Amino acid sequence: MKKIAISTSAVILMMAFWVITSAKIPEFSSVENYQGSLKKGEYVFNASGCASCHSSPDTTQEEKLVLTGGRAFPSPFGTFYAPNISIDKVNGIGAWSEKDFVNAVRHGVSPKGKHYYPSFPYTAYANMTDQDIADLWAYFKSIPESSKPSIDHDLPMYVRWRRPIAFWKLLNKREPITELVSSDATVQRGSYLVETLGHCGECHTPRNFIGGLQYDYWLGGAKNPAGRGMIPNITPTKLTWDTEEIVEYLASGFTPDFDVAGGHMADVVENTSKLTEEDRLAIAEYLKAIPGVQK
Ligand code: HEC
Ligand code: HEC
Repeated sequence: MKKIAISTSAVILMMAFWVITSAKIPEFSSVENYQGSLKKGEYVFNASGCASCHSSPDTTQEEKLVLTGGRAFPSPFGTFYAPNISIDKVNGIGAWSEKDFVNAVRHGVSPKGKHYYPSFPYTAYANMTDQDIADLWAYFKSIPESSKPSIDHDLPMYVRWRRPIAFWKLLNKREPITELVSSDATVQRGSYLVETLGHCGECHTPRNFIGGLQYDYWLGGAKNPAGRGMIPNITPTKLTWDTEEIVEYLASGFTPDFDVAGGHMADVVENTSKLTEEDRLAIAEYLKAIPGVQK
């Protein structure tokens, strides 16, 4: 009797695990109601920094738009490689529908129903507006093809299985940080640019032991996942530059003491330099409005 009860519970537990961890693909995507604009999509593309990760590591300036992938992202869980997301039909995403694209970027779910690793910052992109993602898709259809196959991630056995990512997603849902900040329209725009498109928190916020962001220390500085040094705290506790100085840094990379943005921030500045002056100002005002924290 007891044995039957134990094996029945084991079967029920396994079934529950299977159901909870399967990636549900939403039937209808609200994005279908929006007409995408290629031109606006280019702006969203720059604001959200897709090329910083998906262009080839040995790329030249003109080739930056060939999203061949291949850049390595070391982490405590192994090394991830950004895949080819050019519109090549075989090795890129050229055969995808708009719905596949939305599910990947906003929900971290592949067309085959698998979970993506959060090294792809979909937790930030989850709040991308329908219009922005429709524009982004319109732009993606115009970028060049590359037939270079993606590189497999280099991960230990225990992280190779993608099903448990479902639990990670449940535990690390993006919390609405914005609401706490301000109802000012410029600050609100800044929060969308920082929290959602610019995914600044992915580098500047410390992480917990499963790699989730510690929202209590939002933008409070973090260990560099590549193992060298710290990524700075950019809350008012540490970032004492005035608004114009932050705007200048995002435009040219120059700090108030004539230093220049280095490391990964150089790639970020390449993107923020392509934004409008109003949007850089919005980012700066947001950074001045958030609570100061220190880990
Ligand atoms: C911080 C680096 C980073 C940024 C920024 C980034 N990605 Fe990715 N992306 C990745 C990684 C790493 C993967 C692989 C995830 C996996 O295998 O689970 C990925 C996977 C993808 C995939 C799935 C490809 C496939 O073959 O299944 C798509 C589509 C994608 N990214 C699109 C985008 C778009 C669009 C943007 C900008 C809005 C973007 N990515 C920004 C790192 C990044
Ligand atoms: C890929 C990782 C990464 C992302 C994403 C990122 N940053 Fe940074 N950021 C850095 C690093 C690394 C530095 C330190 C640069 C240096 O030492 O020159 C830095 C420095 C800064 C500084 C200067 C701080 C100081 O005290 O010198 C500001 C301001 C800043 N980042 C704002 C942003 C904003 C705004 C975003 C989003 C649009 C962003 N960062 C996204 C990695 C990142």
